[in-house]
Amino acid sequence: MNFRTGPATKAEIAAIAELEQAAFGEPCYPVFLFRQAYDLWPELLWCVRDDNQVLAYLLAAPMLHRPKVLNIMSVAVAPTQQGKGLGQLLVSSFCQSQQENFELFWLTVDPKNSSAQRLYQRLGFTIARYEEDYYHAGEPRLVMELDLTHKSE
Ligand SMILES: CC(C)(COP(=O)(O)OP(=O)(O)OC[C@H]1O[C@@H](n2cnc3c(N)ncnc32)[C@H](O)[C@@H]1OP(=O)(O)O)[C@@H](O)C(=O)NCCC(=O)NCCS
Repeated sequence: MNFRTGPATKAEIAAIAELEQAAFGEPCYPVFLFRQAYDLWPELLWCVRDDNQVLAYLLAAPMLHRPKVLNIMSVAVAPTQQGKGLGQLLVSSFCQSQQENFELFWLTVDPKNSSAQRLYQRLGFTIARYEEDYYHAGEPRLVMELDLTHKSE
């Protein structure tokens, strides 16, 4: 199968929102968030697609007060396409595309989501800390980071 990676096109936004819903269920990001992200950070809304459809997407945003840090807000592979290496292709191709612009990639993950944690660890992310009640009471998150300044040491 021939996969193409790269920034989302405007025509792909509806498919990204559908994929988000299928991957996470509720609550999930609504379509208007993707539409606004497309205007704000067009290079940071990233897709893997085949000839027919979007198979996976990632959304990131810069941090105003930490200009060398990129916050990966969401990573999702279509449920029917999981376990085939697309998550790895998605995150690695995206990080590669932004490695000249940022020194540190930052994300949070559900401590119970071991598949996602293993994916990030394979790509060099490490666990920076555990935050109790990250979203609200009883919703902890692991903060994971990929620090590119350590790579060349
Ligand atoms: C977490 C998520 C992004 C991972 O994406 P994915 O495409 O399934 O990831 P990969 O295929 O690269 O890796 C998943 C597993 O499949 C295995 N795999 C990869 N290619 C494979 C292949 N060709 N044959 C068999 N197994 C394979 C990997 O080794 C990995 O195994 P592990 O979980 O035991 O470590 C995806 O499951 C998802 O979207 N989940 C719902 C949303 C979510 O949780 N997002 C992350 C929020 S932080």
